[in-house]
Amino acid sequence: MSQPKLRVAVTGGTSGLGLALVRQFAREGAEVAFVARTAERVARVAAEVPHAHGVVGDVAAKDDIHPIALQITGRLGGLNVLINNASSLGPTPLALLADTDCEDLEAALAANLVGPFRLTKALLGALAGAARETGGAVVVNISSDAAVNAYETWGAYGASKAGLAHLSRIWDAELAADGVRVLSLDPGDMDTPLHATAIPDADPSELQRPEDAAAGIVAAIRAALPQGAFA
Ligand SMILES: NC(=O)c1ccc[n+]([C@@H]2O[C@H](COP(=O)([O-])OP(=O)(O)OC[C@H]3O[C@@H](n4cnc5c(N)ncnc54)[C@H](OP(=O)(O)O)[C@@H]3O)[C@@H](O)[C@H]2O)c1
Repeated sequence: MSQPKLRVAVTGGTSGLGLALVRQFAREGAEVAFVARTAERVARVAAEVPHAHGVVGDVAAKDDIHPIALQITGRLGGLNVLINNASSLGPTPLALLADTDCEDLEAALAANLVGPFRLTKALLGALAGAARETGGAVVVNISSDAAVNAYETWGAYGASKAGLAHLSRIWDAELAADGVRVLSLDPGDMDTPLHATAIPDADPSELQRPEDAAAGIVAAIRAALPQGAFA
């Protein structure tokens, strides 16, 4: 019997790290669904990448979560890997906490913490089902060194990423019996639009290419899945 294809969902799949993950998984033969808010960019990536299914939606918007989850499972027929990658910086230009509007803190928490929580919850049945069939499933929550270091002006983003990292640890413990691993992975600094918005005067030549960071994340995901289970 031929091995099943890996079915992967990536949020924030039209730019930077997310786009690099979509391209790499598709190149390796996986079926990939990706999510982003801007319909035109979603259509462009779906046209460019074979085996990639675009979903237009906002992970920070409560009412978008179930439509996103239904489109992911409908198009892939199940799910082995969910990567919560889409992210908000909070206020831009970055601001001291004392100068951060409550609404900007809430927006960062909605995109970086509550959104991944909701989407993971909505897809848990599919992930647990895939784990029963193949021996394992993986959720990756994309983190940052701002989750552990107290960088001034990165408060909204850093607090939301710290919450996401701890949510990942607790969920990993709670879902172990179902065969679903939940990992929090920091890709390191990358040359992407998000980085350019946060630090406009950074030297891009000193930053990682998102493709290189994606390769490390794909390797970590494959190491957490049952070996030899997928084509
Ligand atoms: N770049 C770095 O140096 C760095 C360092 C450490 C960690 N990270 C983390 O790496 C991840 C990827 O960052 P990146 O630098 O690759 O970002 P990026 O290039 O700015 O790409 C962000 C992607 O997410 C989508 N997106 C943003 N908000 C969304 C929402 N609410 N719902 C759905 N999609 C949304 C964007 O498309 P739309 O705008 O069309 O929705 C885009 O596809 C993030 O979790 C970030 O925190 C980045």
